[in-house]
Amino acid sequence: MNREVILESDNIYYVNVSYDLIDEYLKLFNNPNIKKFITADPNPYTYENRFLCVKEALETDTLIILSMFDKQSGRFIGNIDFDNITSDDAEIGIIINEEFQNKHYGCEALKRFIDYGFNDLKLKEIYLGVYSNNDRAIHLYKKLGFIPYKVEEKIAIINGENVDTIYMKLHK
Ligand SMILES: CC(C)(COP(=O)(O)OP(=O)(O)OC[C@H]1O[C@@H](n2cnc3c(N)ncnc32)[C@H](O)[C@@H]1OP(=O)(O)O)[C@@H](O)C(=O)NCCC(=O)NCCS
Repeated sequence: MNREVILESDNIYYVNVSYDLIDEYLKLFNNPNIKKFITADPNPYTYENRFLCVKEALETDTLIILSMFDKQSGRFIGNIDFDNITSDDAEIGIIINEEFQNKHYGCEALKRFIDYGFNDLKLKEIYLGVYSNNDRAIHLYKKLGFIPYKVEEKIAIINGENVDTIYMKLHK
């Protein structure tokens, strides 16, 4: 690993988001099986859009994005982030590459990043929004202790299906 490792867990290295990974990000975000759980915008993510996102993460204190690599194979796993960071709280997000999904990387990464949020960033609360049809993510968030506190109904129509957004939060 020739990148500076910011965090580590059993199977994952976490490094800073990086311009030279934008092609990996585009493949990740534009995979239809992933994109449908991230945005209702039918347009693809573009190079420029990902560039600006990396720039924001590198230049502001309110967005931290870390890219994850599998320790064993060295392959790119996905991204995990805190957005809208304040002294008290932040919104967590995660995207795992399809080939690494359902192998407990998401659970491992969320646990490590939540620990980082509470113990290093000194957050008091971590929150998130998840589409109501994302059963796997909802299962995982609940397993990690997130409690639903608000539902925004029919936020989007994705592949012809009405989808709500469920907001969940976790206190330290
Ligand atoms: C959601 C996501 C982060 C989860 O990470 P992951 O590595 O795939 O998940 P894990 O393997 O750690 O855990 C999955 C859990 O959900 C369970 N699960 C899998 N499919 C499920 C389903 N359809 N319904 C309910 N639970 C399901 C698994 O059994 C496992 O639970 P367990 O450990 O109690 O057995 C990942 O799949 C992903 O990035 N998906 C696409 C993007 C996305 O949805 N991001 C979140 C947006 S809010």
